[in-house]
Amino acid sequence: MNRRQLIKQAAGAALSLNWNPLQAKIQNVMHKTIPGTSEILPVIGLGTNRYSVGNAQHQARLRQALQTFHEHGGTLIDTAPMYRGSEIILGQLIKTLNIREQLFIATKADRAADNNGPERLANSFAQLQTDRLDLVQSHNLRGVDSMLPVLREQQLAGRVRYVGITTSRENQFAEFLDVMNKYPLDFIQVNYSLIDRKAAEHILPLAADKGIAVLANLPLSRGALFKKVGDRPLPDWAAEFNCTSWAQFFLKYVISHPAVNCAIPGMTRTRHVIDNLGAALGRLPDATQRRRQEQYIDGL
Ligand SMILES: NC(=O)c1ccc[n+]([C@@H]2O[C@H](COP(=O)([O-])OP(=O)(O)OC[C@H]3O[C@@H](n4cnc5c(N)ncnc54)[C@H](OP(=O)(O)O)[C@@H]3O)[C@@H](O)[C@H]2O)c1
Repeated sequence: MNRRQLIKQAAGAALSLNWNPLQAKIQNVMHKTIPGTSEILPVIGLGTNRYSVGNAQHQARLRQALQTFHEHGGTLIDTAPMYRGSEIILGQLIKTLNIREQLFIATKADRAADNNGPERLANSFAQLQTDRLDLVQSHNLRGVDSMLPVLREQQLAGRVRYVGITTSRENQFAEFLDVMNKYPLDFIQVNYSLIDRKAAEHILPLAADKGIAVLANLPLSRGALFKKVGDRPLPDWAAEFNCTSWAQFFLKYVISHPAVNCAIPGMTRTRHVIDNLGAALGRLPDATQRRRQEQYIDGL
C-alpha cells in the first residue's frame, strides 16, 4: 500500500470515529494543503513546550492563550511527552474548552518499540484525552526504526492520521536526510528561521520533492531574533508584505518558504498568539523580498 492509499484509509477510519475535518474553524487565516491530500492547515500553529503544570495564574494564562489561538482560526498544536506536563495540561484545557474536534493535535514518540515506545504512545492518547491523534512524530529520531512501523499500524487502525519525524539540531541533519530517504513519511518537523536557514539547503527541497508536509520549529529561534533586532523599528518595506510587528516579519519569512506548511512558534501569552496569527494574514514576501529580509538580518 502506498502513502496516498494509507492516508486515504486512515482518513476513512477517522471519519468512522465521527471526526469531520470540515468542522474545523476556518477564518481568514492563510492555509496550505498537506501534500497528497485535500486537507488544509493554517500556516501558524502553536508550540507548547512551555505548557507546563503550574499555579492557578499560570493555568489561566495558558487557557486564555489556547482559547485565543482557537478563536483566531488556529488549529495545529504541537506537543510531546517530554514537555513536562504539556500533554496533560492540553488534554485538560482542550476538554474544558470543548474544542477537540476543531484541532489538529501533533505529538511525538520518543522511545524505541522495545523500550516502552508503545506504552508511551498509549499514555499520550490518555493524557491528551483523545482516541485519535492527528500526527505522531518520532522525536529527534529516538527509536525511529522500531517505532515508525508501530505508528504505521496505528495509522491503519485509524488511531493516528499522519506519521512524521522531528529534529531541531543541525548536527542531526545528515541522519535526518537518511531517514527521509529511507521511509515514507507524511510530515517532517525541522528548525528553520530567518537566522537559522540551514534546513533550506537540503531538507526542505527533499521534503518538497517527496511531497512531505513540513512543520517549522523554533521559527523565532527561541526569541534570539528579537534580541538581534533590539529596539529598531521595522523597515518601511516590511509593509509591502503586511507586517506590523517583528514577530510577523520573522514568521512570514518562514511560512513563505514554498516547502513549509506551518510554523509552530511557542506562545504562552495571549498577546503573542494574536500577534503571531497576524502573520497568517495579508501578503507574504516573494523571493526578492525574502532575500532582502536575509540581507537585512545578516547585516545587523
Ligand atoms: N526536536 C523537536 O521536536 C523540537 C525542538 C524544539 C522545539 N520544538 C517545537 O517548536 C516549538 C517552538 O519552539 P520554542 O517555543 O522553543 O521557540 P520559538 O517558537 O522560536 O520561540 C518562542 C519564544 O518566543 C516568544 N514569543 C512568541 N511569540 C512572540 C511575539 N509575538 N513577540 C515576542 N516574543 C514572542 C515566546 O514567548 P511566550 O511563551 O511568553 O509567549 C517564547 O519565549 C516548541 O513549542 C515545540 O512545539 C520541537
